[in-house]
Formats: sequence, structure tokens, C-alpha cells
Amino acid sequence: MSTHIGPTPQELRRALYEAAEWVASYLETVGDRPVLARVTPGEIAASLPQSAPLKGESLETILHDVDRLILPGITHWNHPSFFAYFGISGSGPGIVGELLSAALNVNAMLWRTSPAATELEQRTLAWVVEMLGLPKGWFGEITDTASASTLYALAAAREAAGMDIREQGMAGRTDLSPLAIYTSTQAHSSIDKAAIALGIGRRWTRHIDTDAEFRMRPDLLERAITDDLTAGVKPIAVIATVGTTSSTSIDPVDAIADICERYSLWLHVDAAYGGAAAVVPSHRHVLAGCDRADSFVTNPHKWLLTPIDCSLLYTRRPDDLKRAFSLVAEYLHTNESDVINLMDYGLSLGRRFRALKLWMVIRAYGREGLARLIEGHIKEAQWLASQIDAEPDWERLAPVPFSTACFRHVPAGIADLEAHNAAILETVNASGAAFLSHTKLNGVYAIRVAIGNQATTHDHIERVWDLLRQTAAQQLR
Ligand SMILES: Cc1ncc(COP(=O)(O)O)c(C=O)c1O
Repeated sequence: MSTHIGPTPQELRRALYEAAEWVASYLETVGDRPVLARVTPGEIAASLPQSAPLKGESLETILHDVDRLILPGITHWNHPSFFAYFGISGSGPGIVGELLSAALNVNAMLWRTSPAATELEQRTLAWVVEMLGLPKGWFGEITDTASASTLYALAAAREAAGMDIREQGMAGRTDLSPLAIYTSTQAHSSIDKAAIALGIGRRWTRHIDTDAEFRMRPDLLERAITDDLTAGVKPIAVIATVGTTSSTSIDPVDAIADICERYSLWLHVDAAYGGAAAVVPSHRHVLAGCDRADSFVTNPHKWLLTPIDCSLLYTRRPDDLKRAFSLVAEYLHTNESDVINLMDYGLSLGRRFRALKLWMVIRAYGREGLARLIEGHIKEAQWLASQIDAEPDWERLAPVPFSTACFRHVPAGIADLEAHNAAILETVNASGAAFLSHTKLNGVYAIRVAIGNQATTHDHIERVWDLLRQTAAQQLR
């Protein structure tokens, strides 16, 4: 009897070839599958054994079970007709990067624990800064999500405000007034979550009203700051968004930066989705004013072809970030000086080698290829917007500065437009031909089409537009 535990090297090699074949054919044929999983809650769990197997099984059997048990419960984010939330791409080069990083399995907490992981991360992030036209010399690190990046940025802002919260905490202190942060009513919930986690509190997270195009109003921002100062509240940071989650609006970052300068506030820019558009030279303007930010986040796992997860946090004040987080246990002390130990710049000690996949994506597509893909998505969204605008029974609900359109069907004689549009959305999603999501803008229900998959072509956009119109007509019958 063999004493070997787990797959033999030969079995592993076979499984890797099989997995490679599986990935390639999945990517080739994913467009033929229904986008949205067609299972009921609990169905997948019910098909899985209650307990883990006692004896190891062959990788061949397990891979077979991925098709049989798992795929039916997958919503295909890599589908060219995935238009919900933000369309994304786990591209081939990114998938190869993930595979290799799992094989290397390095934990890049210290420079020493894998110098290449730290140095590749620094260099790749410097590439991205250059690609986006942002200031050279910003410190950057990779985190898992924009939510974590923003939490880190606001922790640095809180530390930079000079109240020694790191050492003294906040509870029970008579020398602390409430701390306030400012963002727009359109900002992502990750900002509120950061406020919850950092002890700022939702009450002191000021949501500033927006203009008719869903952009933060600087006049109202300044008024909220001065009101707070008068009331003895301490403002610490403003979070501007480039590409809001609902309508992809762009806050006036330059005007907001002026206010931040006037009141010595930390400016964090959330460009989780919109930042990638600046790779297209004609779209550099979307980041106007962002060079003045204290910190900035963008997510290659949204629109830069990198498999989830990969979020980039930049700051021009790395010392503040480090002061917020660095805590070096004895066993983590090393002799190297002048190296970056990435564990010093965030909450987690262990860190995945995410730079490898990002580096592979950037090299495999080149700046030009990435720009062409993103520009193509923007053009498709503009085409869709023009079709909506040309139809009297359809109404566009927001400008389309990126690759996302928000709109609704507004035929005469329908009392409940929200129910009507929600029914259109559900019917389209149930068809399996496309997956869309919705939002509300000024309380109005909007269907949302977000284009971001590398395999999406004009045909896919035409098809979803036809499907929407046919479905809307059927609803009226
Ligand atoms: C503008 C914006 N910020 C932050 C996030 C959160 O991103 P993550 O899922 O990486 O935390 C999103 C997600 O869609 C977003 O649209």
C-alpha cells in the first residue's frame, strides 16, 4: 500500500493540465451559459455531503464535481452579458498570475519573506500611477478591496489629525470632540462602514447633497464643515468619488481639494471603478484634481482585467499610514534597513502575492491594449445612451461619463413605473441572456447596464437593448 498522502506529482500534473483545459474552454464558452445562476436557495448546499470525506479523493473526481455540483450555482461574472453592478473581467493573464501566486504561496508581510513580492508590488503600482497620470512618487500598496483601502486611508487621516487615538483610544476621553467625515449622498457604503469600524460613527458621517448630475456640491460641503466647526465637532477627512456606484458621477475633486486645503482636511478619493478610465488618454480628465489627494483608491479587479481581489491604495503620506498601523512583534524584526515591510501599512499581517497577476495583466495587454478595451466599453455605453435618448418611451436618468447607463421605461398610462421597470429587469435576468441590476436616483427606480467585460462586443449590447425593449413591450400586453 502506498504511504503517499495527497495527490502524487503525476496526478497533480495531470490535474493541472486538465484544469488548464477547463479554464480555457470555460472562457471560450461562458457566453453560451445563462448568466445568472438558476438555483433556489439551499439547493447547492443540499447537494453537498454533510461531512468532509474521510479518505482523500482523486483530483479528477473533484474536478468533475466542479462541473456537476458547483457550476449550476455559479453566476457568471466573466460572461460578456454580465452588466450588473460593475461588469468585470478575470482575464487569462490574471488567471495565470493567480495560479502561479498560489503555487509560490508567499506571504509578503516583510520584504524578507519574499523580496520579489514587495518589490514587484511597488514597481507595478508605480506603473499604474504613471498609466493614470497621477503623481510619481506616491506610495502604493495592494489590498483586497476598496472597502479595506478606504478604511486604511481613513485610519491614516484619523491618526494624522493628531489625537493619538492609536495609543489612547477614543472611549471615555474628555479631550475629544466628535470627529466628522464628509462624503456625498451618492458615496459607497464602504465609507460608512469605515466610519463604523473607526469609531467615527454614522451620525458624524456627513452625506453632502449632490447637484442634478449626482456630483457633490462643494458649497454645501463647505457649509457643513463650518457648521460642524461652530458646533465644536472636529472635521478630519473628505471622501470624493470618481465614478459613484449608482450613476458613475464624478465629484468636483479640484474644488473639494481647495476646501480640504482651507480647513486642513485629509482628502481621500474613491475611484474604485472610475480610476481605470484614465488609462485612456482622452479620459485622463476624469481624474482632474486627484493629484491633490492625500490618498486614492482604484480597483484593478473592477475595470482593469484583474481577477478579484485586487485594490490599489495610494497615499502621498505613507508615514501617516504607517503610524496608524505599524506594530512590530519581536519575531517580525529583521536586520534590513531601507526596505518596505508591507505589513506596516495595513491591518493584516499576512498578504497574498497579488502583484503578480496585476503585473501579468499589464504586460500581456500593454497600456495600449487596456486603453483600447476600456475605450471600447465607454463607446458602447455611449451608443446605448444614444439609443435610449432616441426612444420617447425610454428615459435616461443620469449622464454616462464611463461605461454605465441608468434609465427606465416610461410609457404613457403606467401608474407604477417602479413595479413596471422592476418587472422588466426580473424578466430579462430570468431569461439568462443577460444580468442587469438596478439603483434608485432621486428616489426613482433605474435599470442599470454596466459594461466592463473584455469579451463584450457591440452585438451583446444590441442584444440586451433589443431584449429590454421586447420585454418592456410584453409587460404592456
Ligand atoms: C465607488 C465604489 N467604491 C467602493 C466600492 C467597494 O468596492 P470593494 O468591493 O472592492 O470593497 C465600490 C463597489 O462597487 C464602488 O462602486
